Amino acid sequence: MKILVTGGAGFIGSAVVRRAIANGHEVVNVDALTYAACLENVAAVSDSSGYVFEHADIRDCDALNRIFETHKPDTVMHLAAESHVDRSIDGPKNFIETNICGTFNLLEAARKYWASQGRPETFRFHHVSTDEVFGSLGATGKFTEDTPYDPRSPYSASKASSDHLVRAWHETYRLPVVLTNCSNNYGPYHFPEKLIPVVILNALHGKPIPIYGNGSNVRDWLYVEDHAEALLLVVRKGEIGRSYNIGGENELSNLELVRAICGILDRLLPKTNSYAEQITFVAERPGHDMRYAIDPTRIREELGWRPSVTVEEGLERTVRWYLVNESWWRALLERDGVGHRLGVG
Ligand SMILES: NC(=O)c1ccc[n+]([C@@H]2O[C@H](COP(=O)([O-])OP(=O)(O)OC[C@H]3O[C@@H](n4cnc5c(N)ncnc54)[C@H](O)[C@@H]3O)[C@@H](O)[C@H]2O)c1
Repeated sequence: MKILVTGGAGFIGSAVVRRAIANGHEVVNVDALTYAACLENVAAVSDSSGYVFEHADIRDCDALNRIFETHKPDTVMHLAAESHVDRSIDGPKNFIETNICGTFNLLEAARKYWASQGRPETFRFHHVSTDEVFGSLGATGKFTEDTPYDPRSPYSASKASSDHLVRAWHETYRLPVVLTNCSNNYGPYHFPEKLIPVVILNALHGKPIPIYGNGSNVRDWLYVEDHAEALLLVVRKGEIGRSYNIGGENELSNLELVRAICGILDRLLPKTNSYAEQITFVAERPGHDMRYAIDPTRIREELGWRPSVTVEEGLERTVRWYLVNESWWRALLERDGVGHRLGVG
């Protein structure tokens, strides 16, 4: 495949780029290099003959048309987005412009290019989305592909809108799309404003480890490499017009998650007190969803996907990665807003 990946300098996009190149595909990485991007994430593959980087913004229609014409991809994997819920509370505009308008621009550029090629059925537009579009669960139940949309933050509302646009472009124009909605990812190259890297780095720096509210909010965690593998499977084998929920079936409350990370650090880098003593409860996030959990039956039964690592293995790999990759994360701590509490409303 010749894959146009948007957002390939971000956390999940870069995992997709690395894996796609390793699997022998060609990649055109389109990224605006926002505060959340890091080209080092793809340094391992950037000299490959099958890799091209295009510094472009999905809000720029002319740039997108030029990129399709120049590179003639047969597949689009759309990951570029503003992705941090706390930032969406403080500044929703960027989320509307990139996640909704940017997706619209990309759909239109893809449709124009696809039409110019004679509308091949083999073309794919894969939209990568989140389980947050489904809203918040109570103590029981899981999100299936048929769960009604009920987004509750500016971030999740913008992603829900983009999902609707992608479905509409399939129904109206027959653009061959597939969609995925995934649970929370973690792993190497996770930007240091997100919960797991914040926990690891604050623990290492002897700082308070912040937990919103009482820590009872539950998330379903998936190792990022397993997500990348699932995405490459869906784009090749998924049925046109269909969506697939992706999740690790690893539900942990935030408090359980943070304690697990502290336990790993206690083993790998012991000090006199447990790192768990640094845990500090801070003001709740406005509109904080209580629980997310994915039912991955469809992708498992129809495409044979299942995660390759348990959350225990994945967390240990992640902590070890941050311990030996200080030069990667130290530079990012200087970026705007990193290390400060955002999104208090
Ligand atoms: N992180 C998660 O746990 C998770 C879970 C499910 C789904 N998702 C979805 O996966 C995708 C990737 O998430 P992530 O965590 O890797 O995000 P990220 O914030 O780490 O990376 C986003 C990338 O998109 C780029 N980008 C942002 N605005 C752009 C624009 N206007 N034009 C071009 N590039 C732009 C950034 O520069 C960055 O490289 C997103 O669509 C997100 O909604 C994320």
